[in-house]
Amino acid sequence: MHQKIFFNNSNLQKKFSEFYKIYKKRPISKNDNGVKIEHSFFLFLVIKKLKPEYIIESGVFAGQSTWLIEKFCPKAKIYCFDTNLSNLYYKSKKAEYHENDLSKYDWSIIKNKNKALIFFDDHVSFYERLIFSKKNNFKHLVFDDNYPPLIGDCYSFKKILAGVDNEYLNYEYFQNPIIGKLKFYIKKIIGFKKFYGSREVTLLHNKIRIFDKKRYVKFKPKHKFFFLKNVKIYYEFPPIINLDVKKRWKKYKHLDQEFLKGIDVQKGIFDKADIRKLISRKDYLELSSQYNYFCYLRVKS
Ligand SMILES: C[S@@+](CC[C@H](N)C(=O)[O-])C[C@H]1O[C@@H](n2cnc3c(N)ncnc32)[C@H](O)[C@@H]1O
Repeated sequence: MHQKIFFNNSNLQKKFSEFYKIYKKRPISKNDNGVKIEHSFFLFLVIKKLKPEYIIESGVFAGQSTWLIEKFCPKAKIYCFDTNLSNLYYKSKKAEYHENDLSKYDWSIIKNKNKALIFFDDHVSFYERLIFSKKNNFKHLVFDDNYPPLIGDCYSFKKILAGVDNEYLNYEYFQNPIIGKLKFYIKKIIGFKKFYGSREVTLLHNKIRIFDKKRYVKFKPKHKFFFLKNVKIYYEFPPIINLDVKKRWKKYKHLDQEFLKGIDVQKGIFDKADIRKLISRKDYLELSSQYNYFCYLRVKS
């Protein structure tokens, strides 16, 4: 099912330079909750290849990816969906904004779904998103947070294909146990909700355990079956340079280092030295900080 649809030509360096001319002008220099250099480049490649007339973005946050979409495809009509638009910093004049889930919208408005691309960056279950896309006849999808097993908050295709549950579990470690425990009790008095939302918080010996019950999804074989039955192309982009595993998964201290090193990842597209010549030091540091198996998917008719 992996097909080299985006990398079958030798123009990648040229394409990267074209992309970077735009990327370096982005309005938000530190887009911590949104796309960084790698995923922005993959989005660029998909958009340039498909030339969609309609681009639907689910998960807008501050609006950096909307800005990029607008620059990559100036003629496209853009639809932006986010259940919380209060973080919006860049608002596009070309986009229509909805503070809602895209499943609530009447998509019969787009007659030729072959000309539409949906960019999912909302951390909602990929399985639910695939069901939605199939039902509404959308063909071209890209997903940002395609987390591998045991990592990340959402039920991704990588988890579905590996046949594992989605269990969003994280830990906060204390450098100093007394200060750590003090911080824990202060947060408890203020109210955990302010810091952890609805997640379950438990104090352990040298760390706080944070578990998100709402995001738990039990893997069922029918999820994988639905994927295999309805997906024509599934393509995971390789990282721009060889992934620095230690940097990428540094947050997951509770997972075995050998396990983290063993997570499958393709070889980088470019050599480090070549890419270093093309981009600023600051942008170079963005590499390996977000890479997450960004994928393109074509739904069967
Ligand atoms: C990772 S951020 C998006 C970043 C943005 N695409 C960028 O690159 O700049 C995820 C966003 O998804 C939004 N979100 C959460 N649930 C959603 C839903 N059901 N539909 C649309 N957006 C949702 C959150 O409010 C948050 O703003």
